[in-house]
Amino acid sequence: MRVLVLGASGTIGRAVVAALRTEHDVLGVAHRSGQLTVDLGDPHSIRELLREAGTMDAIVCAAGAAKFAPLARLSDRDFEFSLTNKLMGQVNLVRYGFAHLHDGGSFTLTSGLLARSPMAGGAAISLVNAALEGFVRAAALEAPRGIRVNAVSPGFVSETLVAMGKDGEAGTPAATVARSYVASVTGTMTGEVLEPRR
Ligand SMILES: NC(=O)c1ccc[n+]([C@@H]2O[C@H](COP(=O)([O-])OP(=O)(O)OC[C@H]3O[C@@H](n4cnc5c(N)ncnc54)[C@H](OP(=O)(O)O)[C@@H]3O)[C@@H](O)[C@H]2O)c1
Repeated sequence: MRVLVLGASGTIGRAVVAALRTEHDVLGVAHRSGQLTVDLGDPHSIRELLREAGTMDAIVCAAGAAKFAPLARLSDRDFEFSLTNKLMGQVNLVRYGFAHLHDGGSFTLTSGLLARSPMAGGAAISLVNAALEGFVRAAALEAPRGIRVNAVSPGFVSETLVAMGKDGEAGTPAATVARSYVASVTGTMTGEVLEPRR
C-alpha cells in the first residue's frame, strides 16, 4: 500500500512509520523539515501536500496540537489555535483527502485519552479530541467508494512521559500505540476509535 503519514517525525509518527515501512510504501510528512511538509493549521498547505503526494491507499495523521492550560487561562486565541490545528486540520485532511484516496482506502486520525478521561488543564484538548471522535464516527457513514475513517485515541505514550521526566511505565510504548494505526490501515473497520493498550 502507498501510505501518507503526517507527523512522521514525532514520537508516535516515527513508530507508525517504522511499523508500516516493512510492508508498505510510506511517505512521511513533517511540519518543519523533509521532502514533504505541511501545516495542519493552514487549509492551503494541506491541499498543496495532497496535490504533491498524489493518490494513496491510506492517509494517517499522527499530528495535531491543542493548548494545555488551566481553563481560566485559556484565551480566545488558545481555543482558536486548538480548533484550527488539531481539530479542523484533521477534519480538512479528510474532506480534501477523499479525492486522493483509491477505492477502499482509509484515513486514520489521532484524538487522545482526554476525550473520555478529563484532567485539569485539558479542557481545550478534551474539546478537540471528543469532537474528532464524533467526526470520525459520522464521516465514516458518508465516506464514498468504500473508504474507511478511524481514529486512534492514545493515552500517555511512555517516551513522552520519559521526556517529561516522569515514569514511562505509566504509559504505553510508542511501538505498541503504532499497532493500532497499523490495524486501522490494514484492517476492515470503519467509524472506530481505537484505544491502544499497553
Ligand atoms: N505523545 C503522547 O503521549 C500523546 C498522547 C495522546 C495523544 N497524542 C496525540 O498524538 C499526536 C502526536 O503526538 P506526538 O507526541 O507524537 O507529537 P510530537 O512528538 O510532538 O510530534 C508532532 C509531529 O507533528 C508535526 N507537527 C507539528 N506541528 C504541526 C503542524 N502545524 N502541522 C502538521 N504537522 C505538525 C511535527 O513535525 P516537526 O517535527 O517538523 O515539528 C511532528 O512530526 C498529537 O495530536 C497528540 O495530541 C499524543
